[in-house]
Parts: sequence; C-alpha cells; structure tokens
Amino acid sequence: MREFGSEHPFIEPVKKFYRFDNFFKTEIYFRAGRDALGAAAECISSSGAVILLPAYCCESMVLPFINRKWSVKYYSLNSDFSVNEKELIGMCEKHKVKAVLLMNFFGISPVADIASSIKEYSKEIIIIEDFTHTLFSDHNLSDKNINFKISSIRKWIGIPDGAVLLTNSDCSPSVGRNDENFLSLRIKGMALKFKYNLEKDPDLKKKYLQTLRDAETCLNDYSACYAISNVSINVLSSLDIEEIRQCRFANFNHLLSLIIDVPGVDLVLKTAPSSVPFSLPILVRDRDLVQRKFAERGLYAPVLWPLNNQCRNTCNFSSGISDTMLSLPVDQRYDYEDIEEIGRIVRSVLVES
Ligand SMILES: Cc1ncc(COP(=O)(O)O)c(C=O)c1O
Repeated sequence: MREFGSEHPFIEPVKKFYRFDNFFKTEIYFRAGRDALGAAAECISSSGAVILLPAYCCESMVLPFINRKWSVKYYSLNSDFSVNEKELIGMCEKHKVKAVLLMNFFGISPVADIASSIKEYSKEIIIIEDFTHTLFSDHNLSDKNINFKISSIRKWIGIPDGAVLLTNSDCSPSVGRNDENFLSLRIKGMALKFKYNLEKDPDLKKKYLQTLRDAETCLNDYSACYAISNVSINVLSSLDIEEIRQCRFANFNHLLSLIIDVPGVDLVLKTAPSSVPFSLPILVRDRDLVQRKFAERGLYAPVLWPLNNQCRNTCNFSSGISDTMLSLPVDQRYDYEDIEEIGRIVRSVLVES
C-alpha cells in the first residue's frame, strides 16, 4: 500500500561533485592548485629532491616545488603534446629523479602509457598527474601508477577558491587554515564583476579587475598549503556537473564549427576531446595583436601559458605554442547565442588581420 501525507522524510542532499572517493583513500580540498601541488611535494620529500616537469607549464606549477627547495628540470613534448619516452627515461637516469609531473593537456595527451613506462624503469619514482584539463571526466582515476593527482577546480567554475589532491599513499598531506584575506578579496571581486555585467560601469570594471589581481598576489604566500573555503565546498556539493559537461561539449562543437574554416586560425583540437573540454585553444600569427583586437570587441582569450626561459630553451614545440596560442572560452556561462557572437568576433578579427 502506498502512503500519502503526514511528516516529510529527510532527504540527504546529493553530493554531485564528489566522485573520487571510490578510488582514493585521501581526497583533500585546497584553496588553489599550487597549494595541492605543495602538499604533494611535502608528502614526497622535505627538500632537495629533483622533479621533472613538462616544458609546457605555468609558473604556478613550478613555484610550489622551487619554494620548497626542490630542483626542477623540464622535459620536452612532441608536437601532439605527448612525452618523448626515451628522453624522459634518459633524464630519470641522469638526474636521480624523485618525481615526475605528467599532464593530459586539453584532454588530448593521456598519461597512462608514459606513467607505466616510468614505473617499469623505476617503481621508486613518484608520479604526480595534474588533471586540471580533464577535471570533469577523468578517465585515469584507477591508474595505480599515479601516486598523486591534483586539479585546480577554480579554473572551471565560479567559485572563490578550490583545488583537489587525491592519493592512495600512506602519507597524509598537511592542510593549513583558510586564507580569509584571499577569500574576501575573491568574493568582493567576483561580486563587483557580477554588478559590472549588469551595469557596465567602467569604474566597476577597474575595481573588480584590481580586486581580483590583489587576490592573486595572496597566492604568492607559500608558507602553508591553505584549505578550501566553506563557501566553495557548499557550491561544489550542490553542482550539477552533468549539466556543465553537456554545455561545454555543445559550446565546444558549436564554436569549432564556426571557426574551423576561418583563415589564419590553426586548431590544436580538430574535434572535441573525449574528456569535457576545458577551452578551445587556437593558434594564430601576431598573437598579441589578435588578443588585443578580441578584447576591443569584448572577447577575453588568455595566453596559456607564458613560459620561463628554461622551458623555452628545452622545447621548441612548447615555446611555439606559448607564443601563438589563445584559449577561447566554451564554458557553462555561455549559451548558443553567446557562442555565435564569439564565433563572429573571431572571424571578424582574423579576416581583417
Ligand atoms: C594546469 C595547471 N595546474 C595548476 C595550476 C595552479 O592552479 P592555481 O592557480 O589554482 O594555483 C594552474 C594554474 O593556472 C594550471 O593551469
């Protein structure tokens, strides 16, 4: 017999974002990706260890190691973002390497094979996978060769802070207190941006940009690995990531169809990746000029990433990508009409360049 009426039963909120705990003993949330990388570094060695990083990487991936007195060496990438196995193993032999950081760039360079080759060479080498570009559909969660996985979640959604570290190792990474200063600047900056989007007052724009820049400077403090805020945890636990996934795939495919034949645009990804798209990277000549013209028309496409000289000297492919790439947004903020507009801006700028 079915029953109707009377008291409401308690329904547990669905924790939609959390989906890692089936695979990992330890799942810790931090303020930023660099805190998660720092926590992994502290688990692995106190100082003096050698880590290999891909030559294509951003400074926030390097500094957590440098600031803990690690020695960082860079390995080069092939023209499809894959790793040259022979060179990497040669470097492991030469430098008494303690750890290697691998990354599946834009979802097109899976790390399982190279991780397996490294472990075949030496079980002692610790492998860290940065899965920032494949956060919402990582296909490599059960890979036993990966010792630590980290991802900067705040790059994907509108939260003031957020990154995750996953590991099955026995060491338990240390988590510092919350960074109240960073949090309040981020919340203030994001709120100002929201207001600017409604009112389009140029003063508001100046203020939100400055506030967000001030927040980023807090991240230069490497004295602790700060914890994520409750504000972000609450957002994460109520997120419908299925909706985000579908939106990003739809936007990626739509924008790709609009720009695929634009003269002067080279594509890094000629079809959607198998994982949820992070962005749609394009390669253009006169990159800085194109970036400025995009911005004049309201399209902000960041450079991923400016490289330090050591990286540039290690890998021609990486420095070429760094000099010519712009990353177009395809995220869940945008609907069909927005993507049409982004496509029009790309076409108009490139056709006149
Ligand atoms: C691939 C990757 N990993 C890690 C980080 C560091 O993340 P965060 O800025 O949250 O410290 C970044 C930042 O840009 C990144 O792009």
